[in-house]
Parts: sequence; structure tokens; C-alpha cells
Amino acid sequence: MIRPLIAGNWKMNGLEAWLEVIEAIGDGLNKQPDAADCLICPPFTMIAAAAKAADKTRLNIGAQDCHTVANGAHTGDISAEMIADAGGKYVIVGHSERRADHGESDATIAAKVEAAFRAGLTPIICVGETLSERESGETIAVISSQLAGSIPASAFGQHFVVAYEPVWAIGTGKVASVEQVEEVHDKIREILGERFPGQANETPILYGGSMKPSNAPELLAVGNVNGGLIGGASLKADDFLSIYAASVS
Ligand code: PGA
Repeated sequence: MIRPLIAGNWKMNGLEAWLEVIEAIGDGLNKQPDAADCLICPPFTMIAAAAKAADKTRLNIGAQDCHTVANGAHTGDISAEMIADAGGKYVIVGHSERRADHGESDATIAAKVEAAFRAGLTPIICVGETLSERESGETIAVISSQLAGSIPASAFGQHFVVAYEPVWAIGTGKVASVEQVEEVHDKIREILGERFPGQANETPILYGGSMKPSNAPELLAVGNVNGGLIGGASLKADDFLSIYAASVS
């Protein structure tokens, strides 16, 4: 049995006052069964304070990206080591917004995964097709090629997480159907099994894309869905805790 992970991606949202949301999520988790892992990835500026605010709770804090190297002349960048130093435990890599806005290639993402392992962080590696790719029947080919390019060979024996996030479902309110999610998650599990024999059944595969309290129960019940990567609905403690509740019920 894979322990589910309910992960929130705050994207470019969150000021100091939002530490109240971190505290509310941490407190809320204490009242729910300890049967899933829970994570919020706030912006870099909040990681240290959020990690302190969540300190005595089961809520983990992570980042939304990292650089490939540990330190050096890279103005404006943040390394995986810095995230770990600030109290982060996870890092999202290869989110479609980074692939699109920053031109991140699979090779760059694989190097970021290596950086996460080097710093002792758990990487959450995102893959997902665009609407035109889905409509032209390329979904499985796109996912297969992103997995092949974004997960380095050194992931063998390491703990990592994969997130399937159809680009057309992110922030749009459009959710992939249970059948669509099942098909892709089964395929991801199969690909991981071929590449990392003996390890595939330990890797959580998250669904992301407009997950909210109303659709979380059916999405989280799909075989090979081991949790969620949640954007909009992670900004409100009650909504996020409802999704967590669905993962442990
Ligand atoms: P959303 O975002 O839940 O707002 O669709 C998901 C994500 O981008 O991780």
C-alpha cells in the first residue's frame, strides 16, 4: 500500500499573513487520521517561516522549483540545498508552468531531480499533455517521453513522486475524467515498473488539475492515484483539509 500524499502548490501566492493558513492546516491535520502525508509548497520567501509554523505538526513544507547546482553565480536562483536549509522537505520540478514560462526541458528537469536527491529533498516530478496533444491522440506518447527524459537513471533506489497534471485541467476548472486519469496513471505505473523494477509500487503518483473537495473523493479512489497536487484549492485551509480527509477515508 502506497501512503498517499496530498500536496498543495501555492504558486506565486502567499504573504506573511498567510502563515495563518499554514497553522490552520497543521492544526487541522492533528484532528484527522495519520494515514497520508501532507505538504504545502509556498513561494520561496515563505519556506523558512512556514516550516517553523508547521514545526510541531504533520504538515511538511516544500518548494516549487530549484536550481540544478548547489551554489554559485546564478543571480536570482535558489538551490535545493537552500530549500533544505530553510526547512523544506520536498521540491516540485517540471511543473507545466515552469516548462512553458521558463522553457524548461526534460534534461533540465532531470538535473533538478538530481539536485533534489543531492540535497536530501523528495522531488515531485510533473508530467502532462496539452489540450492539442490530447486531441491529436498523443497523450500517452507525450507522458512516456516526459517520464523518460525527466527522471534520471539515478532515481533508482531513491524516493520520488510523479504528478500527472494535464495542462488543460490546471487552473481551468476542467477536470480529467476518471477514465482519462485511470488510463494515464496505469501507464505511468507500467513505465516506472519497466524502468525501475521492484520499486514502481513504492512511488506515489499524484493527480493534479482542478482537484477540489467536490471531485477529490472520486479522483482519489481511482486505482494508481496516490494523492493530489492541488493549486487553487490549497489556498484555503478548509478546502485543502477536506481533500486530505478524502484521501484517508
Ligand atoms: P489547480 O493547479 O489545482 O489550480 O488546477 C494544480 C497545479 O498546477 O499544480
